[in-house]
Amino acid sequence: MRTGLKIPRHAAIIMDGNGRWASARGLPRSAGHKAGIDALRSAVRAAADFGIEYLTIYSFSTENWKRPRAEVLFLLELLRRFIRQDVAELHASGVRIRVIGDRQGLEKSLVTMLEDAEALTRENTKLNLVVAFNYGSRQELTRATRVIAEKVAAGELDPAHITPELLDTYLDTAHMPAPDLLIRTGGEERISNFLLWQSAYAEFVFIPEFWPDFNAEIFARALQEYSSRERRFGGLKAQSA
Ligand code: IPE
Ligand code: IPE
Ligand code: MG
Repeated sequence: MRTGLKIPRHAAIIMDGNGRWASARGLPRSAGHKAGIDALRSAVRAAADFGIEYLTIYSFSTENWKRPRAEVLFLLELLRRFIRQDVAELHASGVRIRVIGDRQGLEKSLVTMLEDAEALTRENTKLNLVVAFNYGSRQELTRATRVIAEKVAAGELDPAHITPELLDTYLDTAHMPAPDLLIRTGGEERISNFLLWQSAYAEFVFIPEFWPDFNAEIFARALQEYSSRERRFGGLKAQSA
């Protein structure tokens, strides 16, 4: 590892480009999603090796329901398969699994699987793998706002006590640090409704490679880019004069 590498506490990844990866090979989009699982496995291993504490992966957005039914069903099945096949090994390597997103839109049996994976791995501390599934930041903020409004209406919360820190505790990401680094593969440079609030001061790194080609080396390059950034959080460069 190169010296001077800064390791983000929390890295978040928009795993994009599965469909284009497959099309470029004359394969159906589903083949790209399937290949994306192997890339995910390398990303998790690499994150643990780098000493990253939180790795959040965007697996399915609230807008992805707009895709053809067959593709949506394939993605839902892929999540089930990933949980079934990988949880034991993730657990053995000390990975804690957490899921963010709206569970109400998901089948009960899938929600149970996700909850079981969370419960099994609850005590693990090597790496937090945060799976964003049926996740949309606007929807997350809307859900949080509704709960806050209900508390105010019930007289349980004083509107004067609503602060950014309080709002944080109503989000799916409550008690997680904000992402320091946000990576998007596949060449698009947009956020697509991912962690809008939480990414207020994240460093963005856009990678041209499609997600199925992602590996530890590409991850290391993103970390090098991140290390070269000067984070100021609205303040000034570390005082020198
Ligand atoms: C990312 O790859 C995976 C999901 C959004 C579920 P895409 O399926 O968006 O692939 P492209 O962007 O069409 O190539
Ligand atoms: C973002 O990718 C969602 C995930 C990676 C799960 P999309 O492919 O859905 O985003 P857009 O449509 O290009 O913005
Ligand atoms: Mg895409």
